[in-house]
Amino acid sequence: MNFSISPTQTIRGRISVPGDKSISHRALMLGAIANGETVIQNLAPGEDVRSTMRCLRQLGVSIQENKTEARVQGKGSVGLKKSATPLDAGNSGTTMRLLSGILAAQPFDATITGDASLQHRPMRRIIEPLMQMGATITSRENGYAPLTIHGGKLHGIHYQLQVASAQVKSCVLLAGLHAEGETVVEEKILTRDHSERLLRFMGADISVSSNQYSVFSDQCSVISIRAGELHGGEIEVPGDFSSAAFFIAAALLLPDSELIIENIGVNPTRTAFLEVLREMGASIEIANLRNESYEPIADLIVRHQALRGIKIFGNRIALLIDEIPILAVLATQAEGETHIRDAGELRVKESDRIAALVHNLRAMGATVDELPDGLMISGPTKLRGAEIDSFGDHRIAIAFAIAGLLANSPTTICAAECADISFPGFFEMVGRLAR
Ligand code: S3P
Repeated sequence: MNFSISPTQTIRGRISVPGDKSISHRALMLGAIANGETVIQNLAPGEDVRSTMRCLRQLGVSIQENKTEARVQGKGSVGLKKSATPLDAGNSGTTMRLLSGILAAQPFDATITGDASLQHRPMRRIIEPLMQMGATITSRENGYAPLTIHGGKLHGIHYQLQVASAQVKSCVLLAGLHAEGETVVEEKILTRDHSERLLRFMGADISVSSNQYSVFSDQCSVISIRAGELHGGEIEVPGDFSSAAFFIAAALLLPDSELIIENIGVNPTRTAFLEVLREMGASIEIANLRNESYEPIADLIVRHQALRGIKIFGNRIALLIDEIPILAVLATQAEGETHIRDAGELRVKESDRIAALVHNLRAMGATVDELPDGLMISGPTKLRGAEIDSFGDHRIAIAFAIAGLLANSPTTICAAECADISFPGFFEMVGRLAR
């Protein structure tokens, strides 16, 4: 499906965005291996989370849905059933990597596969630690999926993350939940900590210690987990900050805009984008901050503001990795140069996001240089309407739909249906808000 976006003057209103995708995956998976029922409210409605639900159902888990509520009947730590057919993670790296951590400890074999994009994403990063813990895993060449996991008895390890990846960290922690002894994961570069928070909330024996280890105040975190049972509970999923980021950008860039985005998760390991915007000259108001549950939630108030280019690099990249596509669009409207470095991980996301950004930004007339680990953008440039290739990547499709609002003529997003991976209803929402 192609979607045409018309330029707009301003964007105003009060919105909420779908539930957080990262937290939704974790709530479903932890609910599935907990004892008792887990009731999840505001579950993310996108295709990726549906992939997790589909895999869990194949493993014998009962999940009842009512709009955005899901009731998961927990099977306990060893209650999952062998699936007669391969598990299909679709486009979802989180499903494949986290579920592999759970499957490694189950007393049966499981094959997990995904779509063409997922079959070309690096899985050695989870195969290696899981094998060190005692699992046997076979894959296609280069560690690509399908993976066949011969689960069984695991033992704890001390693992230093080789890539800054919350998915790898979570995979090892989930395996550690069912391993003999203690499992310790050390991350030199902080990544999102939703797994740690939810594991603790559901009763896991987990501890986290953070050390400042350099003068640049970068943090190093050491997480330790021991085998144990989880208990079900009530989980309210906050709005997805990464989805909100697209609307934050639209309101910043379009004159006279004002947007209130309600009930957004503002976990500090997800909101480095706000810090970067502050350094670019914009300030986003954080209102009504609530800390009462396992994750902080707030309302965000965004008004049109002028931006200047900056240099973004180093450890903070991991804390805004999913916001870089929209950050690149913002940079085209900022005064001066924006450098984004140390972001080579973007090349192994749902698409090669560096190449996809460079291709589409140039199509819209932006001045951009491609770097091996990032990009350099000079602005401000009046964008022109263009035909955008989404490369089947939801964040590319959505970021360029926002760029289309600023352009001088209509923009067509090709294969726009991939937006449903994280944000079903995105195009309708834009249509309602744009004036
Ligand atoms: C995610 C972690 C990140 C992120 C992805 C979701 C998660 O991936 O890009 O969209 O839910 O843990 P990596 O762990 O590969 O960096």
